Amino acid sequence: MSRSWDTMDSFEAFLDAGGIVEVDDAMPDEYRKAVFAFIEMHANSELMGGLTERDWIPKTPGLRHKMSVLAKTQDEIGHGHLLYMVAADMGIKTRTRMLEDLFAGQSRFHNVFHYQAKTWGDQVAIAFLVDAAALASQQAVFKNCSYGPYRRILKRIIAEEGFHMRLGEDRMMRIAQGTAKQRALFQDALDRWFWPALQLFGPDSKPDDKLLRWHIKSERNEVLRDRWVQKFVPLLHSYSFTVPAPDLSFDDDTGRWDVGPIDWEPLKATLAQGGPDSARRIAEASDNWKRTAWVRDALAAPA
Ligand SMILES: [Fe+2]
Ligand SMILES: [Fe+2]
Repeated sequence: MSRSWDTMDSFEAFLDAGGIVEVDDAMPDEYRKAVFAFIEMHANSELMGGLTERDWIPKTPGLRHKMSVLAKTQDEIGHGHLLYMVAADMGIKTRTRMLEDLFAGQSRFHNVFHYQAKTWGDQVAIAFLVDAAALASQQAVFKNCSYGPYRRILKRIIAEEGFHMRLGEDRMMRIAQGTAKQRALFQDALDRWFWPALQLFGPDSKPDDKLLRWHIKSERNEVLRDRWVQKFVPLLHSYSFTVPAPDLSFDDDTGRWDVGPIDWEPLKATLAQGGPDSARRIAEASDNWKRTAWVRDALAAPA
């Protein structure tokens, strides 16, 4: 049964008491738009991440790795499909419209997918650092998410992302114990991917962040980012890799790592579709969409 709220105050009280909003509830417009935009960006990111992964299927060394890249590509594209369905059900844009906006460069996806994975080392760094960052963000949403359909889909996505993170760990450990050349390959990738992965969490949350107030996010960006730093800096050190942060410091009193000032300009560039690989990524995805138009036309044609 559809529910409605007379005022924003009563809606927020419902959310604060742990209420879960369902798709046919008469939720406030502002909430609908904010949650939709968040899920749309998540869906776009899964799709663009899946395409990054797909690029590596032919280039991946060895059958064992190739099978895992194949499985991961299917997972990410599957996550995209699930999220586009949840987003489309909110009645703001159709699934096709969301895809068209993405391929026209008019909607956002995560900063990390605006970069190119150049070597196998980059693939390892992405699985190790980026999937872990994405998983931490998604877990923080799942923990307290007030929008029921998104929360239910996240449960499955998180289970699969957990495998991606483990896969990244496994590959990183193999490369860390490998030859000097393999270690150099990973260090080189780490130099490229450390900062983009850290920036995946975004700049510090604004004090009036609506996604926090409405129980979509459960933790502030800076808290999640710092937790990632405290986990990954010592982990990378333990395998004798260098963290590419010239101002990195350790506070003996608090036992915490500080990466120093963060340059947010690269993140801003990706938000404006001006990342190092944005143009190529969007153009390729768009070409693919155009090339497959005949399938959509055939399906839409009367029998
Ligand atoms: Fe995913
Ligand atoms: Fe993933």
